[in-house]
Amino acid sequence: METHNLNSDTIHQTLTKPIFLVGLMGCGKSAIGSRTAKLWELQFYDMDKVIEQEEGLTVTQIFEEKGEAYFRQKELELTERLIKLPPCIIATGGGAFMNENIRSLIQKNAISVWLKADYEVLLERVSRKKTRPLLEQGNKAEILRSLMEQRTPYYEQAHVTVMSDNRPHKAMIKQLKKNILQFTSGTKE
Ligand code: S3P
Repeated sequence: METHNLNSDTIHQTLTKPIFLVGLMGCGKSAIGSRTAKLWELQFYDMDKVIEQEEGLTVTQIFEEKGEAYFRQKELELTERLIKLPPCIIATGGGAFMNENIRSLIQKNAISVWLKADYEVLLERVSRKKTRPLLEQGNKAEILRSLMEQRTPYYEQAHVTVMSDNRPHKAMIKQLKKNILQFTSGTKE
């Protein structure tokens, strides 16, 4: 029986590598990533969640009890494993793509997609939660502004960029597909 729908078929025929979603906290990596994976019939991995499961601690607890450097090392080790998988969708944590080793692994062996969002959109989204240790260290708005300034030059290096705004997820996923197909058609494997 045919299991793929038309939507997933085009992408299945095109993709040869995992897709890594990158971008600041609140840009929708997990929300859009999980929905896209479902629609395209691909596996989805949320790096923060995998690390939490493997460590038996939340990201906040890992930062508090083991330190940020430990968490960053776990991100690198996990990337080294995920990069070897067949086509799938991976939501990174917002800081992962800042690590030179992680970035280089992704850029060489996968497709990176930056979910780019305006500052106001991000601030509104991250203000609802207290699960992000970096933003709990002071004024959320100021920390987010400074992370955005520091990190934008790295996110800009992603192979593909998709605007993440308050459009319905369906519209963003359609854009994501279009931009990925455009990128892969211009890339020699
Ligand atoms: C971080 C982002 C978080 C998480 C950790 C550090 C960052 O992931 O990995 O709190 O450095 O930007 P999300 O981007 O999924 O919130």
